[in-house]
Amino acid sequence: MKSRSIAKAKYLILRPAGYPMKSSYHEYPEISEYRVFEFYAKEQWQGLKVKKGDYLFDSRMFPDFAFLVVDVEPPNSEISSTTRIIVDVREEQVILPKTKSIRMNDIVGQERAKQQCRIIKKYLEDPKKFGEWAPKNILFYGPPGTGKTLMAKALAFESNSPIMLIKGTTLIGEHVGEGAQRIHSLYEKAKSLAPCIVFIDEIDAIAIDRRYQDLRGDVSEIVNALLTEMDGIDEREGVCTIGSTNRIEFLDEAVRSRFEEEVEFTLPNEKERAEILRLYLKRSPVKISEDVDIMKIAKMMDGFSGRDLVEKVLKKAIHEAIIQDSELKMEHLLNAANKLPKKVKDAPKHMFV
Ligand SMILES: Nc1ncnc2c1ncn2[C@@H]1O[C@H](COP(=O)(O)OP(=O)(O)O)[C@@H](O)[C@H]1O
Ligand SMILES: [Mg+2]
Repeated sequence: MKSRSIAKAKYLILRPAGYPMKSSYHEYPEISEYRVFEFYAKEQWQGLKVKKGDYLFDSRMFPDFAFLVVDVEPPNSEISSTTRIIVDVREEQVILPKTKSIRMNDIVGQERAKQQCRIIKKYLEDPKKFGEWAPKNILFYGPPGTGKTLMAKALAFESNSPIMLIKGTTLIGEHVGEGAQRIHSLYEKAKSLAPCIVFIDEIDAIAIDRRYQDLRGDVSEIVNALLTEMDGIDEREGVCTIGSTNRIEFLDEAVRSRFEEEVEFTLPNEKERAEILRLYLKRSPVKISEDVDIMKIAKMMDGFSGRDLVEKVLKKAIHEAIIQDSELKMEHLLNAANKLPKKVKDAPKHMFV
C-alpha cells in the first residue's frame, strides 16, 4: 500500500546491472534517448518506493533486465511523474546535493575566484531570470590541487543542484564518432538534471591546441562536438559548463574563446597553508600533541598546494601516528614534510603537470 507520508523522489540515478540469469542469447540494452527513457521508466516504476542499493527490473522491452539504484534523493522516496531519472552508464559521476556537503566556506583563500563564481550560484538558483544572459561556460585554471574541483562542488551544493563530474580523457572514444556521441549524450543527461553543473576536468586532454592535435587524430572531431554543445543556447537552460585545466596554455584557442570567464586558482600563501592545515587537523582521527607548530610547517611548504598539504603531509603524518599508537606529534609532520621533493621556485607555468 502506498502511504501518503512517503516523499516523492526528486532525482533517481540508475546503473545498468544486467540480467539475473544469462543464456547464449544475451543482448545488453543501451539507452539512446534519455528523455524517452525517462517516460518509459516512469510508466513502469511510478509509485514504487526506492532506496539506494535496490534493483528495478524492466518488464517490457528487455524483460528482467536490472537497474541498480545508485542514488535517490530524498532517500527512501517514491518515483513520481516529476522524478528526474539519470542512467549512469559511463565514467561520469553524478553527485546529488545533500545536506552534508562541501560549502564555499570550506575553501581556504581563492577569494577572487569565489567572487567570480558568485554569478554561477545565482544562475543555478534561478536560471529563468537570466534568459540570454546566462553564464554558460566558465574555465577554471591553475596548478593541480588548488581547489578547482572543490569549488565546482561547493557551487553545486550551495545552490542545491547536482553536478556531473567528467574527466576529459573519458570523452575520447575508441572509434571515430564515439567521442562526439559521448559529448552529445553527456549534455542530454545534463538537460534532464538542470539546473546543474557539467564539470569537465582535464579539459586540455580533449581541447588541446591545434598545434599539438596531429598527435591525436580524432581530437578535432571531439573539439567540434564540444564547441557545438558549448554554443547551444536553445533548450539548455540551467546547464553551466565548468572546464578545468592545469595547463591553460595548451588549450585550443577556439575552445578557450568560448569560455566567458577564466577563473584563476593560485597556490596558497603561508597564511593560507596554515589555515588549510588547521582546517584538516580538526578532522584528525588521532589527538594532536601540544608540540605541533602549524606555522612552522606552513613556512616550510612554500610552493605546495592544498592537496599536497592534506594528502602528502597530514595524511602521512597521521598514518605514522596511528602505526605508533601515538598522538600526532610535530616529529610526524616534519618527517612527512621533509620527505617531499623541494619545489623549484619560479618554475615556468607549463611545469605544472
Ligand atoms: N583552497 C583549499 N581549501 C581547502 N582545501 C583545499 C584547497 N585546495 C586544495 N584543497 C584540498 O586538496 C584536495 C584537492 O583539491 P581539488 O579541488 O581536487 O584540486 P584541483 O581540482 O584544483 O586539482 C581537496 O579535496 C582538499 O582536500
Ligand atoms: Mg581536480
